[in-house]
Amino acid sequence: MTQDFEGLNVLVTGAASGLGRATALEFAGRGASLTLVDVNAEGLDETRKACEAKGAKAITVPTDLSDAEACMAPVPAAIDAFGRLDALINVAGMLVFNHFPDTTVAQFDKVFAINVRAPFLLIQSALPHLLESEGAVVNVASASGVMGHAYTTAYGATKGAVIAMTKNLATEYWKSPLRINAVAPGAMMTPMASATKMDETYDMQLIAKGIGAREIARPEDLCEIIAYLASPRNKRVHGQVYSIDQGVTA
Ligand SMILES: NC(=O)c1ccc[n+]([C@@H]2O[C@H](COP(=O)([O-])OP(=O)(O)OC[C@H]3O[C@@H](n4cnc5c(N)ncnc54)[C@H](O)[C@@H]3O)[C@@H](O)[C@H]2O)c1
Repeated sequence: MTQDFEGLNVLVTGAASGLGRATALEFAGRGASLTLVDVNAEGLDETRKACEAKGAKAITVPTDLSDAEACMAPVPAAIDAFGRLDALINVAGMLVFNHFPDTTVAQFDKVFAINVRAPFLLIQSALPHLLESEGAVVNVASASGVMGHAYTTAYGATKGAVIAMTKNLATEYWKSPLRINAVAPGAMMTPMASATKMDETYDMQLIAKGIGAREIARPEDLCEIIAYLASPRNKRVHGQVYSIDQGVTA
């Protein structure tokens, strides 16, 4: 594997499971040191050990990203441990899957806090360091921010916001060396997907529209693209949303 992150430090949120864990391991294999952030301290520790088994240095910063003040801790921890930050990968996310009339204000506020406000605050905190290192941001959006999915209106709105945040920020930093991009995954087999409870009140025909005709992705299928977007080898891709969705938005 290319050692394009040798000597570089990458901060990955949502690193305790699913796509975040797979992404951390991808960067570990490319020579990066890792700052691992998640609310799930036990899962984070497992990811740290798996990164170390690949020869990478890694620290964990257990953080509840729904708490705005707590979002200020991970970047200083990365700088304390490694003296630099080269990439911020915003993977952590919460899904609200239910009938539109049943979505509560508390769910709406929480999903926006985790999926939109936390990446916003982490990017603010990381920017001075990323400008110094000429680094990168990769935000994880979703196909549901690009097209309609049933039963995920609040969640889809957060992912549309992540896409708008990526493009607006990329425009503001157009004249800097930063690279700011997003990926928009389609259905992925992760704990988030397997924890989604469905019953006969949901219309499977509508749900199938968001899954499409191809096999559901594994998190490992996406990591190479995330690593490329964050890599110093990527000199030209900026302000883009890379769909990795088995073609559902084609
Ligand atoms: N699984 C899918 O089908 C799918 C599709 C498109 C996009 N995504 C996006 O991919 C990303 C990763 O999701 P995943 O599928 O790997 O699910 P996952 O549940 O395995 O991972 C999400 C991670 O976010 C962490 N997290 C949740 N709330 C948090 C909080 N308050 N503070 C800190 N960490 C918190 C969880 O602990 C978990 O480790 C998410 O942004 C999700 O929206 C997933």
